[in-house]
Amino acid sequence: MNIAIETIDSRTSVRSYSGLALDSADRRLLERAMAEAGPCPFGTQPRFVLVEPEAVGEVASGRIGTYGVIKNAPAFVIGATRSAPFAFADYGYALEGVMLAAAAAGLGTCWLGGTFDRAGVASALRLGDGEIVPAVTPVGDPAERRSFVDSAMRALAGSKKRKGWSELFFDGTWDRPLSEADAGPWARALGAVRSGPSASNKQPWRIVRTGPGTGPLFHLFLDEDRGYNNAIRGVRIQEIDIGVAMRHFEAAARSLGLPGAWTRLEDAPVAYDDPLSYYSSWISG
Ligand SMILES: Cc1cc2nc3c(=O)[nH]c(=O)nc-3n(C[C@H](O)[C@H](O)[C@H](O)COP(=O)(O)O)c2cc1C
Repeated sequence: MNIAIETIDSRTSVRSYSGLALDSADRRLLERAMAEAGPCPFGTQPRFVLVEPEAVGEVASGRIGTYGVIKNAPAFVIGATRSAPFAFADYGYALEGVMLAAAAAGLGTCWLGGTFDRAGVASALRLGDGEIVPAVTPVGDPAERRSFVDSAMRALAGSKKRKGWSELFFDGTWDRPLSEADAGPWARALGAVRSGPSASNKQPWRIVRTGPGTGPLFHLFLDEDRGYNNAIRGVRIQEIDIGVAMRHFEAAARSLGLPGAWTRLEDAPVAYDDPLSYYSSWISG
């Protein structure tokens, strides 16, 4: 499914819902988006299920518990993956694809990596041996006004703020920032990474551009906050952020008619220091 750049640019996390049930068109769209969420860049295959409270008898009080963070959501997309290199990045890429498809249809979503009842979701998914639930999202018609908790969460995470270009994007080497003007037609694809969601809005993505102007390469790194990234047992939450960034860059490039695809190069293309780690490169030529 093609996502318009405007949809990517205008997306924000929605924690307050009107309570309206999904209609059959919404359900069809979400089922299709879940089926088409792959193939994922690192080759793993997360699975997703759409649950609506009535359908989830075994989850406490018929809802996926979110500690009061999510209000009146009629449904959730929940999912699981298996431990493998970069599986969390693939999960981020896949679920963000579903979430952008939802946004295109006017539905709200919000990544939940911390504030949800893992045991309830595990039982709703009938989790198999070795399966892990990295994160989930509510989905539904946004409320007209944000709830108090929603506003408080946004203020706490500084959700409106983004790091400057000079902290995120680099030109050939780490000591040379890439300006919006120098990025040329790719500026909007980089902007789509910058405006994307990340856990606690830490924005851990870093991108170095190399190569000729006619066929630039964009190398994606994680600037890890180790303590934070290992705070939830068994889940690397900031690797999910990397997958989200990959989805945003790719969807934006497709929407803008810019060429290329993600490839993990065998040798890291640019030298880097701890706590950076290399994930993948967008090769446009
Ligand atoms: C992997 C991941 C996990 C997140 N976990 C939570 C969470 O547990 N609870 C929550 O309220 N928001 C969570 N968020 C949403 C972020 O706080 C939000 O994306 C960020 O503050 C930027 O705001 P925006 O999405 O409205 O642009 C998460 C986001 C990501 C990408």
